[in-house]
Amino acid sequence: MVIDQLINKIEKKKALVGIIGMGYVGLPLILRFCEEDFRVLGFDVDSKKVATLKRGKSYLKSIPSTRVSQIVRSGLLEVTDDFSRLYKPDCILICVPTPLTEKMEPDLQYIEKTTDAIRKHLRKGQLIVLESTTYPGNTEELILPRLESTGMRVGKDFFLAFSPEREDPGNKRFTTQQIPKVVAGITPSCQKAAVSLYRQIIQKVIPVSSPRVAELTKLLENIYRSVNIALVNELKMLADRMGIDIWEVIEAASTKPFGFSPFYPGPGMGGHCIPIDPFYLSWKAKEYDFTTRFIQLAGEINVHIPYYVVSKIQDALNGRGKSIKSSKILILGIAYKKDVDDARESPALAIMDLLQKKGATLLYHDPYIPVLPPFRKYLFQLNSSPLTKRLLHRMDAVVVVTDHSQIDYPWVVKHAPLTIDTRNVTKNMKQWKKKIVKA
Ligand SMILES: NC(=O)c1ccc[n+]([C@@H]2O[C@H](COP(=O)([O-])OP(=O)(O)OC[C@H]3O[C@@H](n4cnc5c(N)ncnc54)[C@H](O)[C@@H]3O)[C@@H](O)[C@H]2O)c1
Repeated sequence: MVIDQLINKIEKKKALVGIIGMGYVGLPLILRFCEEDFRVLGFDVDSKKVATLKRGKSYLKSIPSTRVSQIVRSGLLEVTDDFSRLYKPDCILICVPTPLTEKMEPDLQYIEKTTDAIRKHLRKGQLIVLESTTYPGNTEELILPRLESTGMRVGKDFFLAFSPEREDPGNKRFTTQQIPKVVAGITPSCQKAAVSLYRQIIQKVIPVSSPRVAELTKLLENIYRSVNIALVNELKMLADRMGIDIWEVIEAASTKPFGFSPFYPGPGMGGHCIPIDPFYLSWKAKEYDFTTRFIQLAGEINVHIPYYVVSKIQDALNGRGKSIKSSKILILGIAYKKDVDDARESPALAIMDLLQKKGATLLYHDPYIPVLPPFRKYLFQLNSSPLTKRLLHRMDAVVVVTDHSQIDYPWVVKHAPLTIDTRNVTKNMKQWKKKIVKA
């Protein structure tokens, strides 16, 4: 039987694994399979990424080049932008982007293009797994009919599953191997094939009853974060008005040994997942005549936070007889979270845009982002300025947006005339209290 042959190949590590989309999700998966002695064929439309990997180099800060070069030297990894080779892999994992359109609706073009490329070369016995985050129903409603239009039948000729990625770039506590993986196949044999594949590289695989359950599981995880971040962000604004330090409150509440998980306020939400994924569900919910109010409310609050931060900057400058217009402001940290080189959807960009519109002269420093690339909504032509005493002295204000570990914050606060702190990096700096504003 086709399924037995496939599982036999997987268990003997003879299956060729194809990974489409070699970004923050795809590249760690590639390395993981190769580390377990699987041969991998990586696909990407970005020929620069393909060329960089061929040279044994990494383009992600969270993955050292040494790891990539070892794998390339082992001969287990081949990468290509030639999608006509899609008939080769026994298992194909789809790790392409799932962003939003201008109208905040799912932008499915990447999944559609990838599915069409797979369809053209689909052969008997292949397992296809979608890893990209999406709405409940995507695997069954969009991918399945396209693949079955070849005349081949799911569960018999080919196998289809969904397994959401939980990658957390830069997280040193949990590796890809240690993060449990939820897996669901369209049919029992699809499930069997997908579970058997992931068991080769992940310590704990959690089978669930359908792709829709797995799709909603991923969204629940991200919505949970988005709603809780919005909650503490709202409380931060109230606590500020009340003259209470929200960070001290969260620290105190965290001493409760049950029923409380701390979430921390910040400059607004960022990254490729939390500000985007919840809207995949809101969009799908409309089909069921349902409004997802928590998601919308959390979105509204989190989108407002950069405006709040700018109002705090404005007040702080005002207190010194200055305005944002003509002030020199240094943005410290552009990445959406600490110690990563990813600035997609970062709140730093919204804050910079608002400040620029009010006439500020902007500079930034981010050790992970030497040049600001063009973003979905913004274009700033800036390079990271070296963080020197002279630079800090020249500024009217420094705004800490990302709390990268390698920055010496006491040194920054000491030399900057005014520090706006959105991350509580100034927690123990009582001696400079007068020139610190939490926002
Ligand atoms: N980044 C994360 O931390 C994270 C975590 C969990 C889930 N996800 C989800 O995983 C998916 C991928 O995210 P990512 O962060 O890896 O994105 P990414 O932008 O880092 O990588 C996607 C890659 O796909 C490539 N690509 C685009 N269109 C393609 C096509 N038609 N064919 C082949 N390759 C194509 C891009 O060039 C890029 O290299 C998204 O759905 C995202 O929501 C991301």
